[in-house]
Amino acid sequence: MRILVVNGVNLNILGRRNPEMYGSLTISELEGRIYDWGRELELTVQCRQTNDESEFIHWCHDAYETVDGVIVNPGAWTHYAWSIHDALEPLTVPIVEVHLSNVDEREEWRRISVIRDIVAARFVGRGPDGYRLALEYLKEHQ
Ligand code: DQA
Repeated sequence: MRILVVNGVNLNILGRRNPEMYGSLTISELEGRIYDWGRELELTVQCRQTNDESEFIHWCHDAYETVDGVIVNPGAWTHYAWSIHDALEPLTVPIVEVHLSNVDEREEWRRISVIRDIVAARFVGRGPDGYRLALEYLKEHQ
């Protein structure tokens, strides 16, 4: 089972970005954990991160018919980027939304998720473990 994990804007500065909110792991350490969990679950995982919305959208397009599940943390794009909603919407495989912090209990604007209606599951406020839960979810729902 092939899983694409796409992290979006500002997630490259994890570790030095508001660690009490987002934790102390860098993006490479976080991706290292995701790859380890993927191996344990016998999933073929590819992790990517970009600050470029158009690149994020291209990767969503490329996921069409090439992977069996997608995990996305679009960062702040989650809250307003309908272009990302439209790029993900045509996918026929399950999409899982992950946020390190509990966006549902933060500022009003962060409670909005433009992809909420098209994802199969959401894991928010679970820190890095949210990605493990998302991998497990996709494995269980293949
Ligand atoms: C985030 C939450 C977003 O509101 C924020 O803009 C991020 C990170 C999270 O993982 O908690 O960049 O997606």
